[in-house]
Amino acid sequence: MTSFRINGRPVTPSFPDDTPLLWVIRDGIGLTGTKFGCGIGMCGACTVHVGGRATRSCITPLSAVDGADVTTIEGLDPAGQHPLQKAWIALQVPQCGYCQSGQIMQAAAMLADFPEPSDRDIDAVMAGNLCRCMTYIRIRAAIRQAAG
Ligand code: FES
Repeated sequence: MTSFRINGRPVTPSFPDDTPLLWVIRDGIGLTGTKFGCGIGMCGACTVHVGGRATRSCITPLSAVDGADVTTIEGLDPAGQHPLQKAWIALQVPQCGYCQSGQIMQAAAMLADFPEPSDRDIDAVMAGNLCRCMTYIRIRAAIRQAAG
């Protein structure tokens, strides 16, 4: 049985160990801010943090997070006051919005490691998070604003 903490709360979900973490988060725990896009680790919509690292939850088996700290968009800042969340709102980044929680989680992990990224750093790190509405320019601007 796999146990871990999600947004600081201990959980022991009743799912087979090979269940993708994404389904455990959405269907088992009921946190639906993390999205399903491609299911093969290629789009980034399902990005969460595992031990502070940006992780594709669609290709991460439940067993891989035993004992880990998992953070979803709901736990990044429960009050919605993370600098990225504030910048996202200020610059009206989303269009349809579907990919945006994954974008923010990827960006948050980057800023934790590189508080002052260059545009090149941002583009390199964010390249794996796809947006069909093409909000990339605003995503980059919001990350720069949040990095302050
Ligand atoms: Fe996980 Fe696309 S849904 S990377």
